[in-house]
Amino acid sequence: MAKKVLITGGAGFIGSALSRHLQELGHEVFVLDDLSFGRRELAGVDDAHFFRVDIRDRAATQEAIATIGPQWVLHLAAVHFIPYCNEHPVEAAAINITGTMNVLDACAEAEQVFVASTAAVYPIADGALAEAHPTGPLDIYGITKLATERLASEFHLRTVVPTIVGRFFNAFGPNETNPHLIPEIQRQVLSGARTLKLGNLDPKRDFIHTEDMGRAMALLLEKGLKGFDTFNIGRGIEYSVREIVDAFERQLGEKLRIDVDPARVRKVERMHLLADVGKLKRVTGWEPKWGIDEGVATLLKERRDL
Ligand SMILES: NC(=O)c1ccc[n+]([C@@H]2O[C@H](COP(=O)([O-])OP(=O)(O)OC[C@H]3O[C@@H](n4cnc5c(N)ncnc54)[C@H](O)[C@@H]3O)[C@@H](O)[C@H]2O)c1
Repeated sequence: MAKKVLITGGAGFIGSALSRHLQELGHEVFVLDDLSFGRRELAGVDDAHFFRVDIRDRAATQEAIATIGPQWVLHLAAVHFIPYCNEHPVEAAAINITGTMNVLDACAEAEQVFVASTAAVYPIADGALAEAHPTGPLDIYGITKLATERLASEFHLRTVVPTIVGRFFNAFGPNETNPHLIPEIQRQVLSGARTLKLGNLDPKRDFIHTEDMGRAMALLLEKGLKGFDTFNIGRGIEYSVREIVDAFERQLGEKLRIDVDPARVRKVERMHLLADVGKLKRVTGWEPKWGIDEGVATLLKERRDL
C-alpha cells in the first residue's frame, strides 16, 4: 500500500536514488534537506514535497515533520566524507548525533523508521563482516554513526516504533556528491586523463550501486518488521582500487596508467571492508542487479561539471 514517506538527506547521492525508487513504487515522497551537500533537483519532488531544513535546528525539524506526518521515515541526512568529518569533528557530531536526536524525537507517530549507518562502525578485519561482529569505529565519522545507531535503538525502546538500522558499505552510481574513489577516477577519465593520480592501490572495498541500495531499503520496509534490527547493505564482493581501474579500462577500451600520489595515501588504511549480506538476502529475498562493469559503463556516459 502506498505510504507517505519522508527521506531526510533525500537531495543527496543515495537519498535521491531512494526517492526515485520509492516514487516508482507509488509512494508519496517528501524530502527534508539543507542542501549543504545535496542538490535541489536531485530530490526529484515538487516544492510542496521539499523542506529546506537544517536538522540541527530542532524546532524547524520538528515543525516540518509534524506538517508532513510521515508513515515511513528514512533518515539519511548526515555528513559522511571521512576527511571532512576529521577536519570538522564538532560539526560532524552536531549533525550526525544531535541532528539525529532532533529527527527521531519527531518520529514517535511514524509506523516505521529506517536510520542510515555505515560499515565504518566496524573495526579493521579481514573476512566478511556480519551484523553480529563487534563494532569498533576508527574515525570521528564512524564514532558519530555508532552513536546514531545507539540513538535509533533508544528511540525504539522509548516509542516502540519499529526501527531498522542499515549499515551502508561503499555506494557507487550516478550523481555522487562527495569526492570518493570512483567519482574521482570518473572525473579524471572524463577530463581526458589516461594517467590517473591515485593513493594506495591495494585496499579493497565492497561497492554497491545506489539503485540496489534503494531496492534493499524499500524491501526492508515492505517487510513490516517489528522491533529493532540491523542489516548490512553491501554487495558481498570486494574490489581493490586497481580492480576498479581495470573496470574503467575495460569499459573505455583503453589502457590507463596509474601514478601513485603520496599526498593521497592515507596514514591508517583498512585493507578490507567486505559485507556479509546473508541476513538482508534471507529476510527480504534481495539480490543485487548491478555489477561493477555495468555501473562504470553508465558513469562514463554521465555528464559532470569537471
Ligand atoms: N556514500 C557512501 O558510500 C555511504 C557509505 C556509508 C554510509 N553512508 C550514509 O548514507 C547517508 C547518505 O549519504 P550520501 O552518500 O547520499 O551523502 P550525501 O552527502 O550525498 O547526502 C547526505 C545529504 O544530507 C544532507 N545534509 C547534510 N547535513 C544536513 C543537515 N544539517 N540538515 C539537513 N540535511 C543535511 C546533504 O545536503 C545531503 O543531501 C549518510 O547518512 C551517510 O552517512 C553513505
